[in-house]
Amino acid sequence: MYKKLYSESCEQNKQPILEVLQEVFDDRKTVLEIGSGSGQHAVYFANHLKHLTWQPSDLAEYLPSVNAWASEAELKNLNEPIELDVLHQPWEISMVDTIFTANSLHIMSWQMVEQFFKGVGDVLEASGKLLIYGPFSYAGVHTSPSNARFDQYLKQQNPLSGVRDFDDLERLAKQYGLIFSKDFDMPANNRCLLWEKS
Ligand SMILES: C[S@@+](CC[C@H](N)C(=O)[O-])C[C@H]1O[C@@H](n2cnc3c(N)ncnc32)[C@H](O)[C@@H]1O
Repeated sequence: MYKKLYSESCEQNKQPILEVLQEVFDDRKTVLEIGSGSGQHAVYFANHLKHLTWQPSDLAEYLPSVNAWASEAELKNLNEPIELDVLHQPWEISMVDTIFTANSLHIMSWQMVEQFFKGVGDVLEASGKLLIYGPFSYAGVHTSPSNARFDQYLKQQNPLSGVRDFDDLERLAKQYGLIFSKDFDMPANNRCLLWEKS
């Protein structure tokens, strides 16, 4: 089924994120993207990072859109999207040296976030990198009034969703052998958080 989704936020954040990826992923080979959504990021990043193989993934319902964007783009370094629900453990995929996700942890329940880190811990190679883009709070404090409003909005949509706190993520990351490396300031009160596997 042809079902091309469009995300305005992807259009707005793709260039600032690309600039971080150009810095952080310059020595990488294969990126597993979790929660690819529409597929706009996958196409944009694969097109601008030709040294990488980009592997999109998401729940089954999003794969037609990722396929639609990908088939128009015709990029040799963009793999067909695979179905990956972070809850379905163990993740049945090959090991990768890089994992990326954007705007997904605040949609997932906390149980899903825990399973996300478990899966990352399993499939990320030694010296692998994990980069997470989105809004985050620090020590329970939102970085802006708009992020606090966004958190409330998310919880109204689904009480299990919500802006995640850096300290909670860092605790999980440590549990799965990841060492925090860098926090990038991004437009619109977002961050890019980078961990590396020991
Ligand atoms: C707000 S969208 C972000 C999509 C895209 N990364 C972007 O930046 O536009 C949240 C994404 O998280 C994905 N997601 C939610 N629960 C998930 C799960 N259990 N396993 C994998 N992905 C999940 C959704 O399917 C969706 O693609």
